[in-house]
Amino acid sequence: MKAAGWQSTSVSRGGRIVVTVVLAAVIGHGAVAVCEAQQTPATKPPPRQEQTAATRAIAARRLRDIYRGDPRAWPHPRVDPGVEWREIGLLPEVVHPESNPLSVEKATLGRALFFDARLSSSGKLACVSCHEPSLGWTDGRGVSEPRGKGPGRNTPTIRNAAFQATLFWDGRAASLEEQIEEALLNPAEMAADREQVVRLLATIPGYRQLHDAAFPDRAIGFATVVEALACFERTVVGGRSRFDAFMKGDAAVLSDEEVLGLDLFRRDARCMNCHHGPTFSDGRFHDLGLSFHGRTNEDLGRYRITRDPADKGRFRTPTLRDVTQTSPLMHTGMFELRGVLAMYNAGMVTLKRQPFERFDEEFPTKSPHLKPLGLNRQDLADLAAFLETLEEPARGMRPPTLPGIADPPVSVEQ
Ligand code: HEC
Ligand code: HEC
Repeated sequence: MKAAGWQSTSVSRGGRIVVTVVLAAVIGHGAVAVCEAQQTPATKPPPRQEQTAATRAIAARRLRDIYRGDPRAWPHPRVDPGVEWREIGLLPEVVHPESNPLSVEKATLGRALFFDARLSSSGKLACVSCHEPSLGWTDGRGVSEPRGKGPGRNTPTIRNAAFQATLFWDGRAASLEEQIEEALLNPAEMAADREQVVRLLATIPGYRQLHDAAFPDRAIGFATVVEALACFERTVVGGRSRFDAFMKGDAAVLSDEEVLGLDLFRRDARCMNCHHGPTFSDGRFHDLGLSFHGRTNEDLGRYRITRDPADKGRFRTPTLRDVTQTSPLMHTGMFELRGVLAMYNAGMVTLKRQPFERFDEEFPTKSPHLKPLGLNRQDLADLAAFLETLEEPARGMRPPTLPGIADPPVSVEQ
């Protein structure tokens, strides 16, 4: 079991009694992390009353009638003042940048490269080793190996990454091209060598052919490799989930439970404060209290990039599309979905200052959008059911036949 690191005891502060809420978040394979968040009784609403099956059916019918209609007539989501929200809904077309336009040939080359471990210095690690299509394009592991001096983090899905304005949990890459260059060259990842990559392609006739078709006017270079991979990534998009079918007009495709969950997501559970728009992500950075500030697993997220103290502990809001396929969750890779929902219901964890942090003015501050929600067990089940509707139908991607793999081994010695 992984230690959660935010254990705290009941304390009283400013004369108010602070109660300790103990959350059991299921992590890994049934292991349990116990995290404790403090809330004042005044801010913690009692759980809402559970409803009878008949009342739920009536509510679901009413909500289905509303949500099957034009989203512009949907009830206003429950978001805090100043939140620039966008409605959830169908994904738009991917925009391929002018500097790297889409072509089938380029995406085909990119797909082969994505699956090819020969790009890595060890010859054993391909993009697909960590972004496996049948695991929601992740690796199903808690965290990847620590990256150089950086912290180990959970592998995000690459599906719909094309819609993110910045890449990585801390948003340090501004384009897929930049992100790929790092993934390839990072000593903690593929540790590729630019020249070796170029030589690999140049010495395999099959790759030369694919490259000629993708880039008729350009010689094989590291830049074309990166462009082909990015072009392929932009073709890995969703849009065939049951939620999408509902949005396209199939009002019966969601169960009552799922429709109730959709409404909770938009309103009483307050998720739209950060998870909104077609990808269910605002693309912004928030502190959920998971920075482990001053502790063994410390990861200050966005702050590592901007060095702005306000960014301590902030991470980019991930997409929730496919979230039921990409466990374990969060940048820490420590949680399963039910545990995450229980934590949100309690207002998330409040990191407790350790004695040496008492006067630390830059101590990470949890997002003000997080509040105890008072949802009951039915509500949490409905919410989880709705999130399941965002899952793409399982459709494995057949690994391509890699050029030259059947030929005698190619020498790539310097
Ligand atoms: C050793 C495992 C590993 C390998 C190999 C790997 N990745 Fe990743 N990938 C990760 C991890 C971990 C992250 C998150 C890192 C972070 O945010 O600091 C990530 C992040 C990403 C993201 C950002 C997604 C987002 O929503 O921000 C994309 C896209 C991506 N990888 C694509 C690739 C491609 C393309 C390759 C091959 C060139 C590759 N990865 C190789 C583990 C890996
Ligand atoms: C204050 C903004 C904010 C609000 C409100 C919010 N989230 Fe999140 N959510 C985030 C951020 C940021 C992360 C990633 C945090 C991290 O890893 O440290 C996240 C992560 C998640 C994850 C894990 C996804 C993954 O791929 O690892 C799930 C599931 C999730 N949120 C669901 C919800 C639900 C359901 C609600 C409403 C009850 C909600 N969120 C409310 C910002 C928010």
